[in-house]
Amino acid sequence: MHIEKGSPQDTRDIARLYCAAFPASVELFFRGKPREKLLDLLELTFDLIFAWGGEALLARSTEGAVLGYCMYFSPRGLLSRRKWDKMVATAGSMMGKVGLLEAGRLLRNQVMMTLSTRHTKKVPAPRSQARILSIAIDPSSQGKGVGTLLLQRVLEKLEHQGVVLNVRKDNPAGRNLYARAGFQECGFTRDLSGEWIMLFKEPTSY
Ligand SMILES: CC(C)(COP(=O)(O)OP(=O)(O)OC[C@H]1O[C@@H](n2cnc3c(N)ncnc32)[C@H](O)[C@@H]1OP(=O)(O)O)[C@@H](O)C(=O)NCCC(=O)NCCS
Repeated sequence: MHIEKGSPQDTRDIARLYCAAFPASVELFFRGKPREKLLDLLELTFDLIFAWGGEALLARSTEGAVLGYCMYFSPRGLLSRRKWDKMVATAGSMMGKVGLLEAGRLLRNQVMMTLSTRHTKKVPAPRSQARILSIAIDPSSQGKGVGTLLLQRVLEKLEHQGVVLNVRKDNPAGRNLYARAGFQECGFTRDLSGEWIMLFKEPTSY
């Protein structure tokens, strides 16, 4: 197994892994959606994140299978990575893939999350923080240290930057992973899936 940089060519694999690692979210937001359509939509979502300037590291087996991913935003060079034309085209393609009910639920979720966000500790302004958007390991490879390694490599890339992320309150594996990496609680929020803890990690040098 090795860790490598992910690119927009990997978004289908990332989408598949997302479905396997987050079945409850898929069920909540996309119940009954045919699998190929769901994968198309998730692939476009990850394409959009890359076009917005997001980055990814992948854990890949020696046979070439993607075992895990971590997607993140780093404020350094974000604007130069952003591809506006790709963003507009991808967002346009997504419109045709999201049902009206799904769009309503996603929008309601986002509004709920925004309105219920409370900080319990002061963290630097969002523009100077990096953000981990999503990390997931294929269920068959979980609990073997892959998540720890992937997160460690991402944090090395985010050296000297504060890092924020959200983790579900009822996700012991995620909470352990982040606590061991030095993240501390800085607030809480909630959405349609339940409560989330907001975490912050002070800038580190490796
Ligand atoms: C959370 C996740 C990324 C951790 O990756 P991983 O490779 O399985 O974790 P590791 O083997 O590196 O172990 C990291 C920590 O999680 C703990 N852990 C792993 N699987 C666990 C489980 N099923 N239940 C409780 N703790 C678990 C490990 O024990 C370890 O903590 P410890 O050393 O204090 O015991 C992975 O389990 C996953 O993809 N889960 C589903 C998606 C998810 O929840 N992503 C995080 C969203 S914020």
